[in-house]
Amino acid sequence: ASTLGEAAAQSGRYFGAAVAANHLGESQYVTVLNREFNSVTPENEMKWDATEPSRGSFSFGNADRIVSHAQGRGMKIRGHTLVWHSQLPGWVSGLSSANDVRSAMNNHINQVMGHYRGKIHSWDVVNEAFQDGSSGARRQSVFQQRLGDGYIEEAFRTARAADSGAKLCYNDYNIDDANAAKTRAVYNMVRDFKSRGVPIDCVGLQSHFNSQSPVPSNYQQNIQQFAALGVDVQITELDIEGSGSAQADNYRRVVQACLAVSRCTGITVWGIPDHYSWRSSGTPLLFDRNYNKKPAYDAVLAALNGS
Ligand code: G3I
Repeated sequence: ASTLGEAAAQSGRYFGAAVAANHLGESQYVTVLNREFNSVTPENEMKWDATEPSRGSFSFGNADRIVSHAQGRGMKIRGHTLVWHSQLPGWVSGLSSANDVRSAMNNHINQVMGHYRGKIHSWDVVNEAFQDGSSGARRQSVFQQRLGDGYIEEAFRTARAADSGAKLCYNDYNIDDANAAKTRAVYNMVRDFKSRGVPIDCVGLQSHFNSQSPVPSNYQQNIQQFAALGVDVQITELDIEGSGSAQADNYRRVVQACLAVSRCTGITVWGIPDHYSWRSSGTPLLFDRNYNKKPAYDAVLAALNGS
């Protein structure tokens, strides 16, 4: 196959990109998006600050633009993200009672998932709920502080009822190394959810890599271990700092690790050309600023094609 999406489809997987609504008017961007990718994730447009900037008042315009673009071309859509401490409007962080936080969280999930019911392949229900470092502890947030550990389970139960057709994912970064404390904490939560019947279908490994945080040597083993709990694994926000053959080798390893695990069902890169990456001074993506394919692109395509 000659494109990323078609090459991934040979093994029943998708290959996606994070997409920003404000680039959809740019012809080169759209040409590459439509040619190469069969899944999209709105980069910012489905986040709480975009979809419910003030309480009970919902705005879906930019997210709808991405959804209709994707739907018109048969692309899958990943919903990102419902419950997250960041890009959270001030009115949520300012809620002081547990009941208020609970009703705001559940209403947000119900309204956003309801708006897109039947259109979303997978939802990142809860994003980045654990701390970095050696503690394995929960991250402080208004949800954690007011509702305690149970908020994640509650969010997943609410999400299942809101759209029973979407895969429900827990998504995080720095959970790529099987031995990291944060990875173990997420693993234990997923194992607990599966044992108690809390609805969870997927773990999203964001997989933002750079020299401080390289592709771990046990990355494939880590994917395998999550999958063995009975969930799919999706690589949800892949980007790898670097250039040339070193970057290409790292991308190849990530793709090969996913392909080696049957429950690793798809890969999303966090942007299309380097200059639109959130790492503003970096070159972590598959296309350069002129939309030329980089060596990393060739390595990904070859790996997806099994060579
Ligand atoms: O839209 C406003 C614009 O109106 C304003 O003028 C401008 C001035 O700063 O800001 C614009 O918002 C920015 C937004 O991206 C849209 O471009 C925010 O400042 C900026 O903080 C925001 O960054 C996003 C970041 O999440 C925020 O946490 C990145 O685009 C996005 O790639 C990044 O994605 C996250 C995932 O959601 C979760 N995992 C980590 C990943 C990378 O940080």
